[in-house]
Amino acid sequence: MKLVLLGPPGAGKGTQAEKLAKKFQIPAISTGRIIRNAIAENTPAGIQAKAFIDRGELVPDDDVVEMVKERLKEDDCKSGYILDGFPRTLSQAEIMDRLPILVDLVLEIHVDEDIIVERLSGRRECKVCGATYHIHDNPPKQEGVCDKCGGPLVRREDDVPEIIRNRIKVYSEQTEPLKEYYQAKGLLVSVTGRDKVEDTTKAVMEAIGERQ
Ligand code: AP5
Ligand code: ZN
Repeated sequence: MKLVLLGPPGAGKGTQAEKLAKKFQIPAISTGRIIRNAIAENTPAGIQAKAFIDRGELVPDDDVVEMVKERLKEDDCKSGYILDGFPRTLSQAEIMDRLPILVDLVLEIHVDEDIIVERLSGRRECKVCGATYHIHDNPPKQEGVCDKCGGPLVRREDDVPEIIRNRIKVYSEQTEPLKEYYQAKGLLVSVTGRDKVEDTTKAVMEAIGERQ
């Protein structure tokens, strides 16, 4: 299965991607995480991307496409992948089609804006494995410690209200048009991400099941 996850910041893309990866035994590829890792490692691409991510803006298309292309060359992508956060502009989608990077299904998770700030303010991410938690809705067993690897949980630097607001604006201006693009190709399915994590997972699995 080759799946694209679409949705605003905080919709639950990363949370659901982890569950799908486990169930279908395919990698969840988050462009946001690839970029944050590049920044942490001070690579040339990371140094260039930092100013964009810090403002809640999109990293230039060519740089992101290059990162995705490299990641998809790895062996674990042979039987499928989940792209979390890519493509994010019409131009990225068009480049993707030309390469081609194949897509079987685009799953949109939608939530209202009021939920987003609350979710992202309470999000904590494992510094080691990237697993995502929420201090109230999805807490780790031990405060501040990752259940999966024991790594420390931290708040993302772009999870502050001013930057969150810009990320929402960027989403509606640059990423939402992709819904129409994939709708026209007959690839788009939508589920609500407003409900509890387990209920959203159920809706996601049903939506995928119906299309397989
Ligand atoms: P990225 O890392 O992709 O961030 P995002 O799209 O803003 O999405 P988030 O990770 O914030 O949200 P999510 O939907 O994954 O939610 P999560 O599951 O964590 O991108 C960051 C930046 O990188 C961009 O701003 C851009 O600069 C750059 N970038 C990335 N891709 C790019 C691209 N293709 N092109 C150009 N630039 C790019 O959940 C959020 C919180 O809510 C968590 O705490 C979670 O535990 C909780 N939660 C999840 N589901 C539920 C639920 N159902 N009920 C209650 N709580 C829930
Ligand atoms: Zn971890």
